[in-house]
This record gives sequence, structure tokens and C-alpha cells, in this order.
Amino acid sequence: MRIILLGAPGAGKGTQAEVLSNKYGIPTISTGEMIRNALRQGTELGKEAKQYIDRGLLVPDEVVIEIVKERLEDPDCQKGFILDGFPRTVPQADALEKMGITVDKVLSIEVAEEKIIERMSGRRQCSRCGATYHIIYKPSRVENVCDVCGGELIMREDDAPETVKNRLEVYRKQTEPLKKYYEDKGLLVVAYGQEEVRDTTREVFKALGVE
Ligand code: AP5
Repeated sequence: MRIILLGAPGAGKGTQAEVLSNKYGIPTISTGEMIRNALRQGTELGKEAKQYIDRGLLVPDEVVIEIVKERLEDPDCQKGFILDGFPRTVPQADALEKMGITVDKVLSIEVAEEKIIERMSGRRQCSRCGATYHIIYKPSRVENVCDVCGGELIMREDDAPETVKNRLEVYRKQTEPLKKYYEDKGLLVVAYGQEEVRDTTREVFKALGVE
């Protein structure tokens, strides 16, 4: 199974990617998470990316294309993968094609903008392992403590309301055109985000035609 997840910031791509990854035993390749890891580790990539992420802008295509290309060569991607947050521009989609990578489906998760803003303000992320929570919809067992590794839960810096506004604008301009791009290739399917994570998962399975 090779899937691309499309959707606005906060639409629930990462949340649904985790469910699909556990169910099918295939890795999630999240460019956002890879970049945040680089930031945590203070690598050159992290330092370069920070100036873009902090403003809600996309990291330059050539940087992201290179890290995805390398990651897709890892042996665990042989039996399938979930691309979460890549491609995000038409040049990135073209680059994926040039790498000779084909996908089975491109799933767009659609959520109204008001909902997105509510979700971002309640999102918390583990400062150590990156696991994602929501204070209402997906709370941790102990407040502010990660269920997975015991790390402290914090708000993502790019979830500040002003940055979220920019990210949504960037999504509309640079990423949304990919829906038409993949629709024209007959690959696009759509799932509508629901109030509860499990209800969205049901829609995702339906859209992908899996049980
Ligand atoms: P990235 O990390 O990919 O951010 P994003 O696409 O903006 O998506 P998010 O991670 O914010 O949201 P999500 O859709 O995964 O939602 P989640 O499941 O967490 O990228 C960050 C930055 O990196 C970019 O801005 C850019 O600078 C850079 N970057 C990354 N990829 C790039 C690329 N290809 N090219 C260039 N630059 C790139 O859910 C959100 C919240 O809602 C959570 O708290 C969750 O618990 C909750 N929730 C989820 N589903 C539901 C539901 N059904 N009901 C209620 N709550 C829910």
C-alpha cells in the first residue's frame, strides 16, 4: 500500500497516518516530523528549515525532495508507505514521479477552517518523541505527560494563531492545486474529517476501499 495524504494543516493527516501505519505495518514518512526532528537535533537542515517553519512557510522544494528521496530508499519502504505532508507543491509531485515512485491512492482529508483553528489550539506534542495529542479529542492519560515516552507535552510553535493563518494561506495557494493534479491522474479520493478521530478513520477506510 502506497498512499499520499493531502489536507490542510491540522486536518488530521498525522493522526490518520498513525492508524494506517499500525494497521498495515508500513512506515509513515512525515516531512514535517523529519524537519522537526532535525530542529530538535540542531542539524544544518533544522537550522535552515527553522526560518521557514516559524513563519508558516514551506521549506524550499529541493531540500524536502532530497530528504524524501533518501528516506524512500530505506528497506522498510519496500512493502509500502504513507507519505504525510509530501508532496506539497506541484514541483514536489513532479519530482516524486521522476524518482519513479508510483502510488495507489492520494487521500485528501477535508475539514472546515473553523475546526482546524480549534484543533490547532488544542494540539499538544511530546517534546521528546513527537507523539501528538489533543486536550479534548485525544488527551494523554496524565495531563501534559506523553503516554509513549513520559516526555513533556508542549504546543508546537507553528500552532500560534498568526502562524496558522499563514500556513492555511500557503496551503490554499501551493498545496491545494495538487488535488486537481491527482484527480486528473485518477488517483484522488476524499474523506471528510469528523468530530471524533475514530469516525474520521472510518471515512478514511471507506475512501481507500479497505476494511
Ligand atoms: P507538517 O508537520 O506536515 O504540518 P501540517 O501539514 O501543517 O500538518 P499538521 O501536522 O499541522 O496537521 P495534521 O494534518 O497532521 O493534523 P494532526 O493529525 O496533527 O509541516 C510543518 C511544517 O514543515 C510546514 O509548515 C512546512 O514549513 C514544513 N514542511 C513539511 N512538509 C513540507 C514539504 N513537503 N514541503 C515544504 N515544507 C514542508 O491533527 C491536528 C490536531 O487535531 C491534533 O491535536 C489531533 O489530535 C486532532 N485531531 C485529529 N483528528 C481529529 C478529529 N477527527 N477530531 C478531533 N480532533 C482531531
